[in-house]
Amino acid sequence: MPLYQSVDELDFRFEDLQPLPLPDRVLMADPRDFECAYAINPHMVDERGELKRVDRELARRQWSALRDAFEASGLRVDLVPPLDRHPDLVFCANPALPMPRALFADGRPRLVPSRMAHPERRGEVEHVVATLRALGYAIEPLRGASQRLEGMGDGIWQLGRALLWAGVGPRSDLAAWQELAERYPMRIVTLSLVDPALYHLDTALASLAPDACLWWPGAFDARGRALIEKLVPRAIAADADEARRFLACNAFSADGKRVFIERRCTRTSATLRDAGFEVIPLDTSEFLKSGGSVFCMKLAHGPLA
Ligand code: ARG
Repeated sequence: MPLYQSVDELDFRFEDLQPLPLPDRVLMADPRDFECAYAINPHMVDERGELKRVDRELARRQWSALRDAFEASGLRVDLVPPLDRHPDLVFCANPALPMPRALFADGRPRLVPSRMAHPERRGEVEHVVATLRALGYAIEPLRGASQRLEGMGDGIWQLGRALLWAGVGPRSDLAAWQELAERYPMRIVTLSLVDPALYHLDTALASLAPDACLWWPGAFDARGRALIEKLVPRAIAADADEARRFLACNAFSADGKRVFIERRCTRTSATLRDAGFEVIPLDTSEFLKSGGSVFCMKLAHGPLA
């Protein structure tokens, strides 16, 4: 199906998009080896350029609290086992892009393994994909030789709608999204990212309900801003400082009502409450040091049956 790069190409209305079931499960990866062992985004170093130090015990407690919050909200949590020498494995949204089974006549869920931009993270892909394969996914790799694609870091499903928002620039290439648009029955809207601190689409845009997104406009070029403004009935702007420092847009909702978000994002949370959402604040301080928060610490998917 088509790929859309600018407003004048749009030939559909948001309300007319095919409905998709809401995700009912999340994959999470054990944070055993989590640390800042290299710097592949600006969050991972301090003002002096030194790698940030992670408190691993605190990180595990924060990760467990996030897992508990997901389970308490009714999501099923499946686990990816630890993997030596892969400190970013905990951000398991990145190594794969699941395609909802509702898109396909045979009802089989599919996934596209990522092509990570940085060699440090490439070993995560097969490991995460193995867990998803065991859950019943068909594995459908990119055919093109050289494109980069970072899974649900840059591919964000609009909640409950057959529409994929696709980040282009720091980590994923336009050519990868073009190939997926040719292969799969879904509309893809590409958005170029321009702020190095917001290097994945999931740091700049969160789909919170079938008609709503949280976003920070400064992360996008003029074309991307126009697309979001034109398409999304309720485009809610995050606080600029919270978006860049505390990854406010790395928020997550599975049901269109409750929003999981880093607890330091108090102004954004107030805006979300005013918009009718229930806010579930979580402490992700240790993971912010690596450039990640609530959304990318899990891969949301399902239903699988
Ligand atoms: N250190 C990881 C990286 O730079 C963090 C990834 C966080 N994921 C995300 N989707 N924002 O790759």
